[in-house]
Amino acid sequence: MSTSDRFLAAALAFDREGSPSQAELARGIAGDATAVAVVDRAEEARRQPVLVLAVCRWLGAPLGPWSALRPWLLARSDDVVAELARRLTQTNDVRRCAPLSVALARVPGPVALLEVGASAGLCLGVDRYGYRSGDRTWGDPSSTVQVRIDVATAVVGGTRPRPELPTGPLPEVTWRAGIDLDPVDVRDRDQVAWLETLLPPERGDRLALSRRAVALARTAPPRLVTADAVDGLAALAAEAPSDATLVVVSTGTLVYLPGRRRQAFVDEVGRLGARWISYERRDLLTDVVAEVPPGVSADDSFAALALDGRVLGVGDAHGTRLHLTA
Ligand SMILES: C[S@@+](CC[C@H](N)C(=O)[O-])C[C@H]1O[C@@H](n2cnc3c(N)ncnc32)[C@H](O)[C@@H]1O
Repeated sequence: MSTSDRFLAAALAFDREGSPSQAELARGIAGDATAVAVVDRAEEARRQPVLVLAVCRWLGAPLGPWSALRPWLLARSDDVVAELARRLTQTNDVRRCAPLSVALARVPGPVALLEVGASAGLCLGVDRYGYRSGDRTWGDPSSTVQVRIDVATAVVGGTRPRPELPTGPLPEVTWRAGIDLDPVDVRDRDQVAWLETLLPPERGDRLALSRRAVALARTAPPRLVTADAVDGLAALAAEAPSDATLVVVSTGTLVYLPGRRRQAFVDEVGRLGARWISYERRDLLTDVVAEVPPGVSADDSFAALALDGRVLGVGDAHGTRLHLTA
């Protein structure tokens, strides 16, 4: 996909996510050959619209309109390209804990939780949050972090069965740790500021949720190791207590690994004999085969939720809507 097409596709996604300012800027870049040439000076993996716009904001760019960002971008192009080389898309989306919690509830505790691509480790707090779908609640109802998700099931024989959702607390997590190429330390103001810059400027609700999760994580910061998801997995897994079930988690991360490395990751999880929960792009992994149930839109089947490669359902990119199939 060309950079221009990437920004056009992102503009549509920003519109859907309730970020018209980012949609306008993405369209502006997509339609401007000079701006595209600036982005193309960054290495391919860093040309992601979310990352490019976050780097611009981080460096003090105007939030819009495009007619204001364009001269800024051209004047600061060297700084933008240099900053892009230092940064990764580290958006830590607490909302993905909702589908994660649905799968985790199916694993008997106690659990040793190991997340690859953990960013700030906010998803490692999955058992410390409360969840709601319609009139159903699970997790910790007294938590300061409450996450909503719409869970549906397919109609069978004219009726729609109630989805198989967790009830009560999630399995006890006795050990938790994460791996990331560039972990975010929740105790570090600057690093948390970068995390917040990756959020759409209009989504005060997402910012508030992230801040509540960061505040909770600061009370017991997760162990985060700087390493590659494949190369660092076995060493960190070796630290997990042997009396807990090791559960490896990957959400919105494997897309950043080149194809062969994704398979190497899946093979490594198999070698460790660990359980594996994934919430990744539906068509990303050859070992996770997810059908799109009839009537479910492309947006709502962007990701597949799987436990040990067995698909439990499909959902949107952020984990706010889940269609359970198992
Ligand atoms: C989009 S974030 C997702 C964070 C979190 N899993 C979530 O769902 O909110 C992807 C994370 O993966 C990390 N990452 C990218 N490539 C990686 C690799 N090869 N090994 C470990 N972490 C990686 C990035 O630094 C980033 O923090």
